[in-house]
Amino acid sequence: MIIVLDFGGQYNQLIARRVRECNVYAEVHPYTLSLEKIKEMNPKGIIFTGGPNSVYGEDSPRCPKEIFEMGIPILGICYGSQLMAYMLGGKVETAPVSEYGHTDVTVDTEDILFEGVSKETVAWMSHTDYIAQAPEGFKITAHTSVCPVAAMSCPEKKFYATQFHPEVMHTAEGKTMLSNFVYKVCGCSGSWQMASFVETTIQQLREKIGTGKVLCALSGGVDSSVAAVLLSKAIGKQLTCVFVDHGLLRKNEGDEVEAVFGPNGPYELNFIRVNAQQRYYDKLKGVTEPEQKRKIIGEEFIRVFEEEAKKIGAVDYLVQGTIYPDVIESGLGKSAVIKSHHNVGGLPSVVDFKEIIEPLRLLFKDEVRRAGLELGIPEYLVYRQPFPGPGLGIRIIGEVTEEKVKIVQEADAIYREEIAKAGIDKGLGQYFAALTNMRSVGVMGDFRTYDYAIALRAVNTSDFMTADAAQIPWEVLAKVTNRIVNEVKGVNRVMYDCTGKPPATIEFE
Ligand code: XMP
Repeated sequence: MIIVLDFGGQYNQLIARRVRECNVYAEVHPYTLSLEKIKEMNPKGIIFTGGPNSVYGEDSPRCPKEIFEMGIPILGICYGSQLMAYMLGGKVETAPVSEYGHTDVTVDTEDILFEGVSKETVAWMSHTDYIAQAPEGFKITAHTSVCPVAAMSCPEKKFYATQFHPEVMHTAEGKTMLSNFVYKVCGCSGSWQMASFVETTIQQLREKIGTGKVLCALSGGVDSSVAAVLLSKAIGKQLTCVFVDHGLLRKNEGDEVEAVFGPNGPYELNFIRVNAQQRYYDKLKGVTEPEQKRKIIGEEFIRVFEEEAKKIGAVDYLVQGTIYPDVIESGLGKSAVIKSHHNVGGLPSVVDFKEIIEPLRLLFKDEVRRAGLELGIPEYLVYRQPFPGPGLGIRIIGEVTEEKVKIVQEADAIYREEIAKAGIDKGLGQYFAALTNMRSVGVMGDFRTYDYAIALRAVNTSDFMTADAAQIPWEVLAKVTNRIVNEVKGVNRVMYDCTGKPPATIEFE
């Protein structure tokens, strides 16, 4: 395994993902990870991430110096490379010229890290400091027109460093460099496979749970679906899944979830569908403020779940679909609340249980999907795009009514159908229809209409923290618009949202 030591870089997760793409297991840990812990984990290599600080700053994050004496191969990236240089006696200074973005890099000498890499290559840079002088014992292995040490290495000690970011896609041959590091420098075998992960997890769950009872809140999203199937394979009917249909799901979604997980589906488990639609509509009546809507939907979810849990009685374990980015983010914790996200995180206090099980806590989203396919979950569920806990409740601006839910469900179904028909669905981060609270005048036949406007949204994003509006082909938008105004009663206007995030968010509320 490889430890990714995080110095606050924005690409920390990406590094771990890229390493895992080489079928080598990687974990991200804060730079404060103790030497004892590192020894205990016995990694084959360590990667220092980038970070926003200057290594010579007083409070800049540093690892213990002894880390360089453990005999473990180290790759420093950006800030990590500067830290390596600084701590080993080299010089780091403010660069006379900063480099951002695509940069031409020249590889100077033969080096394991650059085996199979072109002599002239393109890399992604983002730095204001640079290594002015490599430490003793290091050779300079690459440079750019303004950066004398774009890469350096000390092969005897197995220390490697790049000022650029091999983990981002824009570094054309970054993957080769990272695989050189993990295979050729660290000697990893590349045997981390999803099939064996799935098999081992099922075995471990079986051993841990024994004859215990397990409860899972199933939303139909990919994470909770994969978690439920893993548990169903491990313990069958000892698992109970509660699926709350809050009436704010996409068209046919409730029935689709039931078809897969219900009594007629392929899995052995107890499936409880709670049809709470009317309860939600009643609670949301007259409420227009977005945060209040979110709060009501979240609280009502807990109430419904509480009632079901009471019927089930005490359970031994509660399942949560926590995935690795959540673990990393909560471990390093630093984010402002823009919206109060609703998920099953609020459940524990209402359920009588002994322990929480998080079978996906070590997987990234794409790995969760791979695990899902490995488990035989239908592709349409595995590749389902993210859907917020409050559902259509936050895609209907203003008051939520049953009628408005129907309108947005129909419009959204048309939009998704046409996007899939055009073959562009897999290339988009997220796309959906929302119902604006605006009504405007139109004309249909010879009659005046005064109906709602639908807003179509599609974004490209890698992390959902920032996003660009996607450029959907005009013909597709025209077709969708035409179908919506003709097929969905109550809509006479369709608009496309061209805003990125920031300043907008992906959802409308
Ligand atoms: P925003 O609207 O904040 O959305 O740009 C970013 C991503 O998060 C999803 N989202 C949610 N997911 N519960 C969730 O589980 C929520 O309350 C929630 N709100 C937004 C949104 O769909 C997008 O993928």
